[in-house]
Amino acid sequence: MFDIRNVTLKREANTVFENLNLHIGAGEKVVLLGVNGSGKSTLLKLLNGLEFPDSGELLFEGNPLSKSALKQKQTNEYFRRNVGLVFQNIDAMLFNPSVYDEIAFGARQLEFDDVDARVRNYAELFGLTPYLKNVPFKLSGGQKQKIALACVMSLSPKVLLLDEPTSALDPASTAKFLDIIAALPITTITATHNLAIAPRLGERVVILDEKGKILYDGTSENAYEIDLLTRAGLII
Ligand SMILES: Nc1ncnc2c1ncn2[C@@H]1O[C@H](COP(=O)(O)OP(=O)(O)O)[C@@H](O)[C@H]1O
Ligand SMILES: [Mg+2]
Repeated sequence: MFDIRNVTLKREANTVFENLNLHIGAGEKVVLLGVNGSGKSTLLKLLNGLEFPDSGELLFEGNPLSKSALKQKQTNEYFRRNVGLVFQNIDAMLFNPSVYDEIAFGARQLEFDDVDARVRNYAELFGLTPYLKNVPFKLSGGQKQKIALACVMSLSPKVLLLDEPTSALDPASTAKFLDIIAALPITTITATHNLAIAPRLGERVVILDEKGKILYDGTSENAYEIDLLTRAGLII
C-alpha cells in the first residue's frame, strides 16, 4: 500500500526523519507509537500527501506519491478518495454549517450518487443522528472527533490514517470505536500514545523514538515490553 524509501524530512531546525524506511502492505493494521514530538503526525501527513520528503521516495500502490503526481486530477481524486486522514487537531477539519454538510462534504466533492445514504449511515454508526442539523464547532470535543471519523469513513477509503483518534472520546465511545476499526477490512495506521488501547488497534506495531527513528517494527506480542517502552520514553 505504502513504501517509504530513505525519506529525510527537515522542518526548521528539526530533522524529523532521516533515512526512514517503512513498507505497509494492503490490509495491515498498524499501530504507530512514540512520545510527543517523535514524528507520528508528520508521518501520517506524509502518507496523506500533505507533507513531502526533502529527499527519498514515497510510493502509494507502487506509484510515486509526490507533489507533481497529486497535481494530476485523476491521480489526486483517486488518492483523496482512497486515503483518509483524521487529524489530531479536529478543529482544523471542521468548517461546514451543519454536521450533515460536514459528513456529506467529501462525498459531494467526489460526486458520489449516494451521498444522503452515506451521511445517514455513518452518522448513525457514530451516534450523531440527533445532531445532523447542529453546527459542528459548537459540539463537544468527543462529538467533533466522531464527526471527523464519520467524514473520512463515509468515503469508504482503502486506507484510514488516524491521529490520536480516541483522544477526546469517552470510554464507551472508545470501546465502540475500537470495535469498528477492528471490523474494517482495510488498511489502518493509527498513531497513539495511549498504551491502554494500543494493543486493540493492530497486530503490527511501529515505535518511533524521540528522534523519529524506528525503534521497533514487529508484532503486537513483543511490542509492549517494559524495556522497549522505557527506551521509547513511553513509560518511566
Ligand atoms: N511545521 C513544522 N515546523 C517545524 N517543526 C515541525 C513542524 N511539524 C512538525 N515539526 C517538528 O517535528 C517533530 C515531530 O512532530 P509531530 O509529527 O507533530 O510529532 P508527534 O505527532 O509524534 O507528537 C517535532 O519536533 C515538531 O516540533
Ligand atoms: Mg501528533
